[in-house]
Amino acid sequence: MAGSNGNDLKEHWDNVYSKNPDEKLGWYESDFSSTLNLIHKTALDKAARILNIGAGSTHLVDELLKLGYANLIATDISKTALERLEKRLATDAVKFIVDDLTKPTILNSIEAVDLWIDRAVLHFFTKKEEQDIYFDLLKELVKKGGFVLLAEFSLDGATVCSGLPVFRYSEEMFIERLGADFQLIDSFSHTYIMPSGAKRPYIYTLFKRS
Ligand SMILES: C[S@@+](CC[C@H](N)C(=O)[O-])C[C@H]1O[C@@H](n2cnc3c(N)ncnc32)[C@H](O)[C@@H]1O
Repeated sequence: MAGSNGNDLKEHWDNVYSKNPDEKLGWYESDFSSTLNLIHKTALDKAARILNIGAGSTHLVDELLKLGYANLIATDISKTALERLEKRLATDAVKFIVDDLTKPTILNSIEAVDLWIDRAVLHFFTKKEEQDIYFDLLKELVKKGGFVLLAEFSLDGATVCSGLPVFRYSEEMFIERLGADFQLIDSFSHTYIMPSGAKRPYIYTLFKRS
């Protein structure tokens, strides 16, 4: 299992992606309706700059392309995952950035975005320092009038994912972390069913920056 060192973590995630086809990953999904319903509520146009945080090899990016979104960025600590995604998509409409969200070296100097999407990434940051860096980066990168979509394990969710401890969230915790600049647009619970059949309760939220 990975330790707290960044290289160990990178190795951990690269190994997980090397050893498993997408359909076997414990977070694989083929039904994106929860996320897409929230994206629909943003009413952003198809040229909107959308940043998928900790994208891994998610098929959400394929769905967004099918819907006509043409200015996407997928970022992850795992080069293996992003290479798989890049090969599958084979398009210029997506940029790929390998970076560590808790020690960003590239992400902190990219252009601001209209939408920040995070499913199942933030909850891996169990230390306050890591969470602070994450929310500082988010506040640096999301435009005024832009949106933040956060989908993480809820308070009644699992305590471990991919062999790593997780920090669980409620709507109120997101509100507190984001601060007064971000208005809650929508929030709901969603139970994700893993490929193994196990249930994983999530909290989905959409915020708009004023
Ligand atoms: C549970 S997976 C979710 C992947 C994707 N969001 C999805 O819904 O399919 C967590 C992802 O977060 C990435 N990740 C974990 N720690 C990270 C970090 N410090 N910086 C960037 N990405 C990270 C992992 O490589 C992995 O792809």
